[in-house]
Order: sequence, then structure tokens, then C-alpha cells
Amino acid sequence: MSFANLLIADVDGIRTITINRPDQLNALNRDTIDELDKVLTEADADRSIRVLIITGSGAKAFVAGADIKEFAHFSVEEGKALSADGHKKLFTHVEGMNKPVIAAVNGFALGGGLELAMSCHFRVASETAKLGLPEVGLGVIPGYGGTQRLAQLVGKGKAMEMILLGSAGMMPAAEALQWGLVNHVVPADQLLSTTLELAGKIARNSPTALGSAIRAVNAGYEPGADGMQREIEEFGTCFGTADFKEGTSAFMEKRKPEFKGE
Ligand code: COA
Repeated sequence: MSFANLLIADVDGIRTITINRPDQLNALNRDTIDELDKVLTEADADRSIRVLIITGSGAKAFVAGADIKEFAHFSVEEGKALSADGHKKLFTHVEGMNKPVIAAVNGFALGGGLELAMSCHFRVASETAKLGLPEVGLGVIPGYGGTQRLAQLVGKGKAMEMILLGSAGMMPAAEALQWGLVNHVVPADQLLSTTLELAGKIARNSPTALGSAIRAVNAGYEPGADGMQREIEEFGTCFGTADFKEGTSAFMEKRKPEFKGE
């Protein structure tokens, strides 16, 4: 697999996807979103991949937002299409992945960058990261799920504050940790090793159960879905998997399980 705007590295079942437009602070243009869509689809279908990490290239930015230069002259209809297309191909896609996706936030996570990090199942940030939703200062609003996912993660009042402050609401990683926007903050030179270590621990668990857990948690945030009912269904489904037989047998035989993801 080779992409113009992404770097892909697979180690021990963990795929690290690096958004690689450092001279544009890894801003998300449509080509990059298309490539991410493709790489996510392939990873979800590839049994050898257990966990994904998304990060940005260079020391400065995770992703500094949607590509402003690309959309600056869009019409109302083009603006709507840009948002809808991005939701489908990238942000809802990441959130709905059947494998854990961790954001390793290595610098600026602004606008679409923070929205991408928030679409991931959880976030690890470097001490140098800065997070914010500056869109209102450009005369637009977060259009890749930010108005919904930020409120889900930190509560409505804090989300309103960050969104309405725009670039003045940009915060350092330490504050984002206090807000619950990121799960861990580590020195920049330990970001990837810490994230890989977490991914490695997750990768030892049953892939089928990981997928069920993600779907059950997500259901609680899907309009019209009954999260408890989805949990009951996913819980029951686990009993029909080879992973469940392996996990429970390994426990009783006092050995480590070897999950195949079936
Ligand atoms: N879209 C397109 N290009 C972007 C970009 C974005 N979201 N963010 C940064 N870039 C580009 C800059 O235009 C510049 O390119 P150039 O050298 O061809 O002019 C390059 O990345 C470096 O950015 P620069 O602004 O020179 O770096 P800085 O250190 O002075 O400032 C930021 C860093 C992140 C504060 C600043 O780039 C910024 O405000 N970016 C936009 C953030 C934003 O509003 N995101 C939400 C978009 S909806």
C-alpha cells in the first residue's frame, strides 16, 4: 500500500497511519480524506490488524484542520457536500471501526484535526499538543462532528465555551487532560512508544469482543439506538465466537488465550 498523503507502518498487528503533509501542517484535503477512507476500509477487513493508531507527520501538528485553501471558494451546496462526504468517509468511519483506533496527538489538533482525534476511540497527547476548534473565527462552524462529539466528551457547557471562543479557546494538552478531552499526556518523545504500548495491551484481547465493545459503547450515542439493548445483543453474540471458547478455555486451563478473531 502506498499513498501520496499517508505513511503506513505495521508492527505486531498494530497499524500506525501517519498523515503526511507536514508543510501544510497535515491539513485534511479531500485527497487525504479519500486515502484515509481506503486505508481504514482495508484495515477493517484485514484480520492481521488488531489496533490502529492515527498520528501526524513532523513535530508541529497532528492535523491543523480541514484544508482552508481548498474550501475557501466553495458555495453553500459544495460546503454541505464537503461536510457530508467527510463525515461518511472519515469521521463516522473511524468512530464505527470494528477495531480500536487511538489518536496520538503530536501537535496542533485544530478544527478537523481535533474532530479526527475525537472520532478515534480515545486519545493520547504529547505535552506540546494544542487543541481547539477555531472555525467560528473563519466564519464557519465545526463541520466534521465537532459540535456533537465535543459535547459528548466534555459536556455541553465546556463544548460551547471552546467552540464559541474559536482560536482563543485553543488549549494546551494539560488542560485538555483536565477536561477529559484526552486520556493521557506524555513527553513528545514518548508519545508513539506510550501509544504503541497501550495498543499492544489492547491487541492481546479478543478482536471479536473488542469490536462488540466498541459497537455497544457507540450505540449509547447513536440517535434512536437503545444502548442497553445493543449491549445485550453484542454480549450474546460473543457466546457464539471461537474467541469466547478460546478465552474461557484458556482461563480454566490456566494458560494465555490465543485469539484468532473469529
Ligand atoms: N488549511 C490549509 N493550510 C494550512 C492549514 C489549514 N487548516 N493550517 C496550516 N496551513 C498551512 C499554512 O497555510 C502554511 O502554508 P504556506 O507555507 O503554504 O503558507 C503552513 O501550513 C504552515 O502554517 P503557518 O500558519 O505558517 O504556521 P504557524 O506556526 O504560523 O501557525 C497555526 C500555525 C496552526 C496556528 C496556523 O497555521 C493556523 O491557524 N492554521 C489554521 C487552523 C484552523 O483554523 N483550522 C481549522 C480549519 S476549519
